[in-house]
Amino acid sequence: MTSSTGTEKNYFVDTGTVRYPVSFTHGDAKDVAAAIVESVPDGRIVVISDATVAALYQADLVAALQGMERSARGLTFSAGEASKRIETVSSLWAQIFEDDIDRGDCIVALGGGVTGDLAGFVAATVMRGIRFVQVPTTMLAMSDAAIGGKTGVNLPAGKNLAGAFYQPEAVICWVSTLQTLSERELISGMAEVVKSALIDGDDAVETLQSVAADALKKDPIALEAAARIGAGLKARIVSEDVLERGLRSLLNLGHTFGHAIEHAGGYGVWTHGEAVAAGMVLAAEFSVEVGEADSSVVDMVRATNAALGLPVEPPPMSVDEWLEPMFRDKKRDGDQVKLILCAGPGRCFGRLTDWDELRGFFERRRSAV
Ligand SMILES: NC(=O)c1ccc[n+]([C@@H]2O[C@H](COP(=O)([O-])OP(=O)(O)OC[C@H]3O[C@@H](n4cnc5c(N)ncnc54)[C@H](O)[C@@H]3O)[C@@H](O)[C@H]2O)c1
Ligand SMILES: [Zn+2]
Repeated sequence: MTSSTGTEKNYFVDTGTVRYPVSFTHGDAKDVAAAIVESVPDGRIVVISDATVAALYQADLVAALQGMERSARGLTFSAGEASKRIETVSSLWAQIFEDDIDRGDCIVALGGGVTGDLAGFVAATVMRGIRFVQVPTTMLAMSDAAIGGKTGVNLPAGKNLAGAFYQPEAVICWVSTLQTLSERELISGMAEVVKSALIDGDDAVETLQSVAADALKKDPIALEAAARIGAGLKARIVSEDVLERGLRSLLNLGHTFGHAIEHAGGYGVWTHGEAVAAGMVLAAEFSVEVGEADSSVVDMVRATNAALGLPVEPPPMSVDEWLEPMFRDKKRDGDQVKLILCAGPGRCFGRLTDWDELRGFFERRRSAV
């Protein structure tokens, strides 16, 4: 590989109406600025980051863009999921309109999934849409959130309830920034990579298991290889199912069980990724329970999680603690809930289940533990 570009080719998201690249760089702010300028050759640029990422990388990126004769400025908001709300959007709108802005200008989301979702929604709504580039700096954002055009904010009624599908001009994964990401954030992001590998197939699971130890040591090549498993799959799935009508729902693997864990533990105790990791173990166990898989799938999911420092077992929870959030889940269909199950790598599928069937599963599981 070279010092500034990734090891392999770019992926492309192709929705039929727009097509954009997902690339990987190991370079510095100048390399990222060059990639942004290549995708958006004219107009002014507003770089949006949370305060943590801004302190590390924003000034360098803004300076590098200015060094390429582009008008650029940075805006920030407080780091954390709590900022993903309409008040932050409103404050960013106000700051954007304090200066001159027109429809030829561009927003760059520099940061994790919170920044991408927020800044993407701002880009979708400023003058009904200005160009936008994603520069993800977390494993979760590189392997999942930055790709696919889902943007938006949380509402008091629930997560991600207001937003828009709005595709970027490019996704530029800035792999070198992962060196400053906390270990827990890195590992949590890896849960979505495990999910992608399970959806994708045997090769992806093998690759992930083989790079896991080096990725946890933050070896750049291993980090890129892991991020590519998620990014490649997401680019393909989104291209086939832009508006999440079918195939894209496979990306919910582990999430319905995971939401119950997040809910029972109180948000913030188990990270989203940790909960999804344990949720995938349960999805595998439930696949065995309903006769769709043999028990080796459970061992395989546990081994993959373990290799990445992710949980292999959910926290102790009562049957009601499982069932109540699962049936309040937005994927509910009548009195049934659609779960994404996993019969093996490359064999994930949706299956409707009901309260009684799931209650039986959790009761048997409880007495077996
Ligand atoms: N749009 C989608 O399709 C999609 C998909 C999955 C998740 N999401 C959303 O993504 C969000 C979670 O994303 P996330 O886990 O990236 O969270 P995040 O953006 O909050 O980042 C996690 C933390 O890491 C810090 N950080 C980011 N990059 C860093 C770096 N390189 N060095 C040091 N610190 C860094 C941030 O300041 C933050 O504190 C959720 O809001 C979720 O709903 C969106
Ligand atoms: Zn997730």
